[in-house]
Amino acid sequence: MAKNTHLKTRLNKKKQKFFFQSPRGMHDILPRDQIWWDKILKTGKDTAEFYNFLKIETPVVENADLFVRAVGTDTDIVSKEMFYIKSGGADKFVLRPEGTAAIARSYLEHGLSHISQPVKLYYFGPMFRHESPQAGRYRAFHQFGFEIMGGASDPIYDAQIILASFRFIEDLKIKNLTLQINSIGCRVCRPHFKKRLTDYYRRHEKKLCADCKRRLKTNPLRLLDCKEESCAALKEHAPNLMDSLCNSCSTHFKSVIEYLDELALPYTLNPYLVRGLDYYNKTVFEIFAEGYNLAIAAGGRYDYLFEMIGGRPTPGAGVALGIERLIEVMKAKNIELTPKNKARVFLMYIGALAKKKALTLIEEFRVKGIHVRESFGKDLLKKQMQLADKEKTDFALILGQKEVYEESIIIRDLTSGAQESIPLKRVIEEVRKRLK
Ligand code: HAM
Repeated sequence: MAKNTHLKTRLNKKKQKFFFQSPRGMHDILPRDQIWWDKILKTGKDTAEFYNFLKIETPVVENADLFVRAVGTDTDIVSKEMFYIKSGGADKFVLRPEGTAAIARSYLEHGLSHISQPVKLYYFGPMFRHESPQAGRYRAFHQFGFEIMGGASDPIYDAQIILASFRFIEDLKIKNLTLQINSIGCRVCRPHFKKRLTDYYRRHEKKLCADCKRRLKTNPLRLLDCKEESCAALKEHAPNLMDSLCNSCSTHFKSVIEYLDELALPYTLNPYLVRGLDYYNKTVFEIFAEGYNLAIAAGGRYDYLFEMIGGRPTPGAGVALGIERLIEVMKAKNIELTPKNKARVFLMYIGALAKKKALTLIEEFRVKGIHVRESFGKDLLKKQMQLADKEKTDFALILGQKEVYEESIIIRDLTSGAQESIPLKRVIEEVRKRLK
């Protein structure tokens, strides 16, 4: 039985049984994990709203060419990792591998350049990449992103994107962040750097891994990113990107750094950081949490992206945070979350008539905004009591056949055990009083 099949077989004594499983590298988000997702989404939304970002949503499916043009044919994402969709028409569609290109497409399609610039947008959603699944690297994962599109190619926006990412992560109580930052130049200075880099690596071509031999021809900048031992050793003496920046890129980068200093955000200059997507220019960065070796957030400036996908030159800068990675870090650091407010009142019933009455009584509480817990799957009062006890509910309302006929209800304090019978029509008023 192949390990990665979507059908799992389990031998039953008499016959084989098949169970469907989620596709490899894709996960269900179960009720017990929702607390993490709620916390991250709320923190992201609060951060976005504080810095005046507006929400945008785009389809999960996009035209494949959008990413071919924006992210680049020679990148891993486009050359190896896109999920193609079989569809009737001639167009090729994919499950989106990232959000930025799709949002730039939407900005152009809907004339967002005609409103006040820059447009600050945020988004959340699933992304899909056919990677080899391992801890922190999945085939379906979620990103929360910020993009600043239009206006000027102003370094203050690069800094604001980094600032929003930091505040978001810190508000999740993840401390000791490291920001790795670099500038990969522009159309003016990058070709000179690429030439110097190619000349250097040609002299050492024999020592390069197979991937880097190919990259030398297609995307030499990515040679600096290779983790293979022999290639990593070579990069120590490779030409330095910082030394090759033109005046404009150098001034831009200096300003970004000055803003980070002003904000007291810690950073490390990393001349080898180039990022795996072709649309970047000038600033690129990645954010790491202590004790976790994958980036929890990454981004940069992309002033050429809009032209690459058929629009007018439009500056942009952005970041995406990986939600699964954030959750892994929070769990590893034992960060505690406050559970959602639980119901403080448990409505119990004895018998079919009371069960029916309980159903409508809960509606009366709903209208008054009082959250009431019930357990219609447990007809025995003892079981209902055990559940209320386990959930540490404050009060029980008990409705039996006698109470239904008498239009009364028992209210029991589950801490002291004291209980009394009250007229049913007073129950909401009484519960309100006790909840205070
Ligand atoms: P990226 O570096 O490909 O950039 O992804 C950003 C973040 O998404 C990563 O730092 C990581 O936290 C998370 N991530 C990426 N791939 C996976 C995976 N296979 N499994 C789990 N998490 C993953 C982008 O996607 C750019 N669009 C970021 C950006 C926004 N640049 C400008 N604006």
